[in-house]
Amino acid sequence: MSKIITKAVFPVAGLGTRFLPATKGIPKEMLPIVDKPLIQYAVEEAVAAGIDTMIFITGRSKNAITDHFDKAYELEKELEAKNKTEILKLIQDIVPPHVSCIFIRQSEALGLGHAVYCARPVVGDEPFAVILADDLIEDAGRGCMAQMVKLYEQKHASILGVERVDPSETGSYGIVKTGDFLEKSAPIEIIIEKPKPEEAPSNLAVVGRYILTPAIFDKIKKTGRGAGGEIQLTDAIADLLNDETVLAYEFEGTRYDCGSKLGFLIANVELALLNSELKEGFSAYLKALAKKF
Ligand code: G1P
Repeated sequence: MSKIITKAVFPVAGLGTRFLPATKGIPKEMLPIVDKPLIQYAVEEAVAAGIDTMIFITGRSKNAITDHFDKAYELEKELEAKNKTEILKLIQDIVPPHVSCIFIRQSEALGLGHAVYCARPVVGDEPFAVILADDLIEDAGRGCMAQMVKLYEQKHASILGVERVDPSETGSYGIVKTGDFLEKSAPIEIIIEKPKPEEAPSNLAVVGRYILTPAIFDKIKKTGRGAGGEIQLTDAIADLLNDETVLAYEFEGTRYDCGSKLGFLIANVELALLNSELKEGFSAYLKALAKKF
């Protein structure tokens, strides 16, 4: 059977204001968790889901992302000359040979909906994935997107990754109200972008994982500016609900909100504890540190 979801869109044109000044010259998606930039985790998750076309929607100061996924001739030659074969393999394997990377420049940061719309000429008339790299999801290597692609193959409907958040945090997320869950998915009835806790229809938040049917593009085209004065993907999905089923999916795995400083630090600590090279030394250090406080 031919693969159904072959393309993933990575909106990486945001300004990364929460991490200034670190993100003055580099994009927030290049910030490392242990030894890999956030965007590499996102691409690896897409590859694990069988996706072979990565579409990056970039903006200013984003050359580091293009360079990261490009061949580094000089570096490779140097590593070869120094016989550093293990490190050489590490950088050569950043993108497997069957995967292509496409870069589209979003000239104005008009919001997530607009960023996704910029991918239309490449995505065409196919369902596709959207991955927001600052939501890092650790799932013992299986991958949240692989779970969602599997569900898409059964349901053939748009799917949003969701998780319950503290009711006080609804103002940071797209929030959904659903019908009954069957196993881990449920049809979405309402979706609202960043409602205040007193206006939120639930505490079920959309995380940065979407599978969308191509019908979303006409919806985004019609969507005016919403929350924060931006063209919101959430508003276009609300419109899509008038015509199609959209499912909420409670994924397996742990999500780290690496768009916030605290979430970013927690991800670094927890992923270091999962790293075979670091876990022993790092956990000994943490235990000693805990005794001091
Ligand atoms: C975006 C979406 C929001 C979603 C969130 C997940 O918001 O607009 O609906 O819940 O990602 O991380 P942002 O975090 O870019 O403000």
